[in-house]
Amino acid sequence: MSAVVADRPVTVPDFATAKAQGRKLAVITAYDFALARIYDQAGVDALLIGDSLGMVVQGNENCLSVTLEDAIYHTRCVARAARRSLLIGDMPFMTYLVSPEDAVRNAGRLVQQGGAHAVKLEGGERTASAIRAIVDAEIPVLAHVGLTPQSVRRIGGFRVQRDADKILADALAVQKAGAFAVVVECVPADLAARLTKELTIPTIGIGAGAGCDGQVLVGHDLLGLFDGVRPRFVKRYAELGKMVAEAVENYCGDVREGKFPGPEHEFK
Ligand code: KIV
Repeated sequence: MSAVVADRPVTVPDFATAKAQGRKLAVITAYDFALARIYDQAGVDALLIGDSLGMVVQGNENCLSVTLEDAIYHTRCVARAARRSLLIGDMPFMTYLVSPEDAVRNAGRLVQQGGAHAVKLEGGERTASAIRAIVDAEIPVLAHVGLTPQSVRRIGGFRVQRDADKILADALAVQKAGAFAVVVECVPADLAARLTKELTIPTIGIGAGAGCDGQVLVGHDLLGLFDGVRPRFVKRYAELGKMVAEAVENYCGDVREGKFPGPEHEFK
């Protein structure tokens, strides 16, 4: 187990310590109480209430329709379950680029109403002023560069990002703006490893190879609970979707065959 700190809740400064000590950070997305409790007890370092909820929970084709209210609601559900993980609330599309003031107000709602310890927002140089304003309001920020899913309409799809100069400039800009760590999504592994060496803040990779300071995956993807968009880089650690289908088929069979005992029966 690569826990940053044993037996106490993980904090933002623990991320810097982890990088300094060469300890890898394990992050997973969560959206509800039941799974968040299991992830937390299994020893993840941080729970990200990602706007991927638009796809894996709400069934949309992308994350653009997720609202701040949705994000606050799911962050609150996860917050009730977390005992030791750092809680990071994702800022939805259109909640941080209108103006830095708007970004601070919305980040503040994720903290005050959702229970987030930190927020995440996408973009590099273009979001530096929002990051700076949020950090100045004492809210820690996890940045996100490389493939930024909220830009899907401009980019035209979920593609590997290869513009090394731009990605490096973005990563340096978010570091300078005060982000405590940065998600690096869907960039070639050698570039992500280079970023990891050049930055003083930890890099959390997703589809960016093993050279990052930590990894993040969508919980539903790694558990085999979601079959919509399935990125090539996702390792499946379980096939829960198949197990759930089998369990429910068995349940339906029992119901139809009248196999239900009374209260004196104890299931083993
Ligand atoms: O929304 C999300 O789940 C994310 C992670 C995949 C990094 O942004």
